[in-house]
Amino acid sequence: MKTLRKTPDTLRSARWFAPDDLRSSSHRARTMQMGYAPSEWMGKPVIAIINTWSDINPCHAHFKQRVDDVKRGILQAGGFPIELPAISLAEVMVKPTTMLYRNFLAMEAEELLRSHPVDGAVLMGGCDKTTPGLLMGAISAGLPAIYVPAGPMLRGNYKGKVLGSGSDTWKFWDERRAGNLSEVEWIGIEGGIARSHGTCMTMGTASTMTAVAESIGMTLPNASSIPAVDASHIRMCSESGRRIVDMVWEDLTPKRILSRQSFENSIAVAMAMGCSTNAIIHVIAMARRAGFDIGLEDFDVASRKVPVIANIRPSGDKYLMEDFYYAGGLPGLMSRIRDKLNLDTKTVTGRSLGENIEGAAVYDDDVIRTTENALYHEGALAVLKGNIAPDGCVMKPSACEKRFFKHTGPALVFDDYPSMKEAVDREDLDVTPDHILILRNAGPQGGPGMPEWGMLPIPTKLVKQGVRDMLRMSDSRMSGTSYGACILHVSPESYVGGPFALVRTGDLISVDIDARRIHLEVSDEELARRRAEWTPPPARFERGYGWMFSQHVRQANDGCDFDYLETDFGAPVGEPSIY
Ligand code: FES
Repeated sequence: MKTLRKTPDTLRSARWFAPDDLRSSSHRARTMQMGYAPSEWMGKPVIAIINTWSDINPCHAHFKQRVDDVKRGILQAGGFPIELPAISLAEVMVKPTTMLYRNFLAMEAEELLRSHPVDGAVLMGGCDKTTPGLLMGAISAGLPAIYVPAGPMLRGNYKGKVLGSGSDTWKFWDERRAGNLSEVEWIGIEGGIARSHGTCMTMGTASTMTAVAESIGMTLPNASSIPAVDASHIRMCSESGRRIVDMVWEDLTPKRILSRQSFENSIAVAMAMGCSTNAIIHVIAMARRAGFDIGLEDFDVASRKVPVIANIRPSGDKYLMEDFYYAGGLPGLMSRIRDKLNLDTKTVTGRSLGENIEGAAVYDDDVIRTTENALYHEGALAVLKGNIAPDGCVMKPSACEKRFFKHTGPALVFDDYPSMKEAVDREDLDVTPDHILILRNAGPQGGPGMPEWGMLPIPTKLVKQGVRDMLRMSDSRMSGTSYGACILHVSPESYVGGPFALVRTGDLISVDIDARRIHLEVSDEELARRRAEWTPPPARFERGYGWMFSQHVRQANDGCDFDYLETDFGAPVGEPSIY
């Protein structure tokens, strides 16, 4: 039997609507102004639907309709829905990078909930930063909340070939640069690679983070991989609407759901999925909002013991998220790594994760492999440390050629993106396949916002020779749909004077992935001499949100949250100041 902790009198929204005073009278009068009779909302849970739909976000285009399905569910369960739009963060449209605005969305979500007369929230997101942004905000706000993932788009298709978002864009762009694809063929690929509304259907950041949301218990079971256009997605939306109303009566807040083990589960799941490297930054930030000190080492430990079993591009070579859903989705995958999960963690259903995946099955053993027949027995992600990255850097061994697991090569250094972009197309560039391309001033402060520049283009001269992978290193991130021997998130970043700022073209760098080591082969004395000569670059911002970002953003190994937002777990929702 359900434990009901709330009554109509103790609803948070009752503070706005119930008292017999002038202020509350205005709240009632203004709600009636919108055409609602008091019986439609008085004494009922008021549910905020934070909707990240916008006209420029193709991944969330269907949210314009889906929000009505969420509202239908809320009304059916006896709640009162109010839609509150939030910044959309369309990954491919927002410059310089959506990562600059993840914390903006987190603050917006938190303050939307804090300032309005709401008792619970449905969070509608999916495109990369929207999942962590919405969840970070909801965790800090502390009200009952359920996450509705946008769902992946359908498989891409061009002339009968299956195309995967991002991954195939990079791959075919290299072919175009090598002169192997005509303009007509390229336009055909552009038209076929994104065939429906929904998020990228490779194992990019969107699919990784919605899987994280499900595995920490913040979505309905199996919600994260339903294709955006599937009728099941509509049903999941209305069911989420119904469920949040009960969650309010049960007072099932994030604090009652989340634990350190929830986040450890999400890391194990991310590893088994062959996740985006961005998962590291976002999970650290989300966990710390919840008061749990998750760090890089948690990912490295999990990476060594959880095999990659989802055969999804780019770690896998064949399938996409649509196939993953038909093969059993996340419950199927979790059933295969049960022994790596804590099955007692709580979820929005009110049941444990273990109860939710009871009876889950896998319907295609090639899409979701057994652990014995894993794609990679370890190594979705690796955390490396050394004199060039004392606070760590990360790479994705499962998505790069094995010959780079142990490699020493000379650095070819670029101090900014435009000069790198110009240089890689030069036929006279002094570069060999053994070089390590370096891009710096691309971190949280230097980028600014840590853009996804980490998959540096292979120099055209080498592409024409058939080279398709080489070691690249930066303090930026890379898209989860990217692949290759890219070392990312170098911390501390070069812009703030990390040792990465001291590398020079021609210096040798040694990488040993098995030993988790990266070393700049330059003496300490020489590095000290270079440090004395180093001068900080000019400020990126002098005003506005960017200035605030640069004052308060943490480094990548700490999740890039703002220092003042890492609050105590479940900090109480504040009172509106208008009272
Ligand atoms: Fe939105 Fe990839 S662009 S998920």
